[in-house]
Amino acid sequence: MTDDPQQYHALQIQLDLHQGIPFTPNWTAESDFIQIIVDACLKATPKLILECSSGLTTLMLARCCQINGAGHVISLEDGQQYADHTRSYIDRYDLGDYASVIHAPLQETLVDGLTYAWYSTDAIPESGIDMLVVDGPSGFIQKRSRYPVLPVCRTRLAESCEIYLDDAAREDEQAIVDMWQARFPELKHEFRNTIRGCSILSF
Ligand SMILES: C[S@@+](CC[C@H](N)C(=O)[O-])C[C@H]1O[C@@H](n2cnc3c(N)ncnc32)[C@H](O)[C@@H]1O
Repeated sequence: MTDDPQQYHALQIQLDLHQGIPFTPNWTAESDFIQIIVDACLKATPKLILECSSGLTTLMLARCCQINGAGHVISLEDGQQYADHTRSYIDRYDLGDYASVIHAPLQETLVDGLTYAWYSTDAIPESGIDMLVVDGPSGFIQKRSRYPVLPVCRTRLAESCEIYLDDAAREDEQAIVDMWQARFPELKHEFRNTIRGCSILSF
């Protein structure tokens, strides 16, 4: 794990982001994960990106959509102050057409017979999500914190949708991928050996 904002320099140059970036040591995704989702977004030109947890990832994906001339990021954020912070950067770069940061407090969510704290679903689009980036809820909140996203969102995904899971080197995230594959046997999985691990999944 690194805590050096310089690691994002190449991405800032690539995406022409020269008015500062949101960065919180240990909380912001590593640049190698962000580079993967940036490359994927620029290549696949998704129309509707759903993101679990906001921050630098939101800003960079929104910029990619602007470069693509298409696409919108819906970013679910459980913390009001983090949502406000991310929004301030979206406004600073005038990217409001490309990203909506939604304050979606965690609420009791029943998934496969177990109760998880997961985002309120009001703002999640009913269909058409063609890129999904999963970097929340935080792992300390509960075991298998990020498991609900696929059971909750499966029917909302477009026929072609790539899913990017950060922190996939952790035991908890590896268990989540196993649970997803047991529940959705058609799910394909590729692991990338980034600093925190990145799982790329598709149906
Ligand atoms: C791992 S962070 C990643 C955020 C975003 N994907 C990024 O890379 O910038 C995930 C969540 O941690 C929470 N968080 C961010 N900074 C925090 C802090 N300093 N203390 C506690 N929680 C924090 C926020 O709710 C955020 O959605």
